[in-house]
Amino acid sequence: MKLPNGPKTPSLVQTFQWINSPMTYMEDCAERYGDIFTLQLTEPVVMVSNPQALQQMLTSDTKEFSAPGDPLFESFVGKNSVITVSGEVHRRQRQLLMPPFHGERMRSYAQVISKVTEEVISQWQIGQNFDVHSAMQVITMRVIMQAVFGLYDSPHAQELEKLLTLMLNRGGSSPLRALMLYFPVLQKDLGPLTPWGIFLRRRSRVYQLLHAEIQARREQADSSRTDVLSLLIAARDEAGQPMTDAELSDELMTLLTAGHETTATALTWVLYWIHKFPQVREKLLQELDTIGDRSGSDTSSNTILKLPYLNAVCNESLRIYPVGMLTFPRVVQQPLTLCGYDLEPGTRVLGSIYLTHQREDLYPQSKQFKPERFLEKQFSPYEFLPFGGGAKRCIGDAFAQFEMKLVLATILSNLELALVDNFDVKPKRRGLVTGPNRPIQMVVKNRRQVVSPTPEAVSG
Ligand code: HEM
Repeated sequence: MKLPNGPKTPSLVQTFQWINSPMTYMEDCAERYGDIFTLQLTEPVVMVSNPQALQQMLTSDTKEFSAPGDPLFESFVGKNSVITVSGEVHRRQRQLLMPPFHGERMRSYAQVISKVTEEVISQWQIGQNFDVHSAMQVITMRVIMQAVFGLYDSPHAQELEKLLTLMLNRGGSSPLRALMLYFPVLQKDLGPLTPWGIFLRRRSRVYQLLHAEIQARREQADSSRTDVLSLLIAARDEAGQPMTDAELSDELMTLLTAGHETTATALTWVLYWIHKFPQVREKLLQELDTIGDRSGSDTSSNTILKLPYLNAVCNESLRIYPVGMLTFPRVVQQPLTLCGYDLEPGTRVLGSIYLTHQREDLYPQSKQFKPERFLEKQFSPYEFLPFGGGAKRCIGDAFAQFEMKLVLATILSNLELALVDNFDVKPKRRGLVTGPNRPIQMVVKNRRQVVSPTPEAVSG
C-alpha cells in the first residue's frame, strides 16, 4: 500500500519517540513532510493537519471515511463503550448519551459546579502553596461524581472516588501506562503487586460498585433525579429499548475516563496562562466584575457562559496546548485523494489537533498566548478543533467548556492567586492527555472582595 512520506527509522524507534515526545516528533515531521505524513507505529498511521483535509475526513455524512471503535481503550472503558463500538451501535450510544450533556439539562449542573469549587477553595489558606493540577483533579472528580452519578458523601461514593482517583490520576498518567496501552502484550496480570495486576483489581472493584449503584437506582426508580446516570437509565433508543447494565457501566467508565482528567488538565493550563500574564487576569476580572450574581444560578451561569473575553481565554488555552492532541482514528473506506496523496481503503488517518493549532498561516506567532485572536477572527471547526469533529466529536464539549468557565469565574472572583515561580511550562504527554511537563504551584495571596457591578454594566 502506498502511503504519504514519513520517517524511515524502524517502527519500534518511531513508537518510542511517539510515546516519549509526541509533540516534538509531530512538529519535526510536519517541518520535513508538510501537512500529511505517515508514522510507522505498531501499525502505519497517517497524520493530517490541513483544515481542508480535516474537513474531508471529519464530515460525518461522507462514505469516504468510517469512524471505527478504538480497541486501544478497551482495557479502560470496556467493549460496550461509545469509544470502542462502531457503526450503528456507536450512533445509538451517542444518541442516548448526548442529551444530559447539552442545553438546559447541562446548565442544571451549574449549582453543583459552583458549589464544589467553593467548597474546595474555601479550604485554601492565605499564603498557602498548592499544586494546581491536583486541586483541579479534586474539583473535576467531585463534579463528575455529583453531576454524573448523583453521588454525594455515601461510603460507596467515597470508595468509588478513591479508586477512580488512583486509577485515572496516578496510573493513567504514567509513561508505563502509555507503553501498556500501545503494547497490549504488556497487559499481563502477573499478580496483585504488579502494575497491570493492580490496575485490573481496582477496575474490577470499580465495576462492582458501578453495578451495585445501577441496581440500586433501578430499584429506586425515582423520576425526580436529574443526574446523568438516572437520565441514562430512563433513556430509550429509537426502538424504545433502554441501555443494558453492561452498556451502562461501560459508558459510566467512559464518561469518567474521558471527562475527568481532560477537564482537570484544561483548567490547569488556563489557570497557568491567566497568572503568567497579569494583564490577562486584569482584563478577566474587569469582565467578571460586570456581573452581579455569581451564585451558580441559571442567570449568572448563562451570563458567564457568554462572556467574550473569558471565552477567548479558554479557547486560546485549548488552542495552544490542546489537551487532546489527536482525534480518534478514522479509516479510509473507498479510494480517495487527501492532500494530493491517493489513499487506499483500510488506511488509518488521525487528525493532529496539536499541529493544526500550531499553524502559522492560521495563528500567526502561534507559540504565543494571545486570547485576542479569538475576538478578532472566527475560526472554522476544522481550524480550531480542541474537541475533534464529526461522528466522534467529543460528547462532553459543551459541558467541559461550561465547567471550565464556571470554575474559573468562581476562583478568580473569590481569590487573588499567583504563580510561585516564573518558569515556562511546556506540554508533555501525560497518559492520554497533553499536560504540563512540570508541577505548577500557585499561592493564595488574598481573598477578594466581590465588586458590585456598575449600573451601566448591568443594563448594558
Ligand atoms: C477540556 C476537556 C475535553 C477535551 C479537550 C476533550 C477532547 C476530546 C477529543 C479530541 C475527542 C475525540 C474526538 C474525535 O475523534 O473527533 C473526544 C471524544 C470524547 N469525549 Fe471529550 N474532551 C473533553 C472533555 C470531555 C468530557 C467532560 C466528557 C464527558 C463527560 C467527554 C467525553 C468524550 C467522549 C465520550 C468521547 C468519545 C466520543 C465518541 O467516540 O463518539 N469529553 N474528546
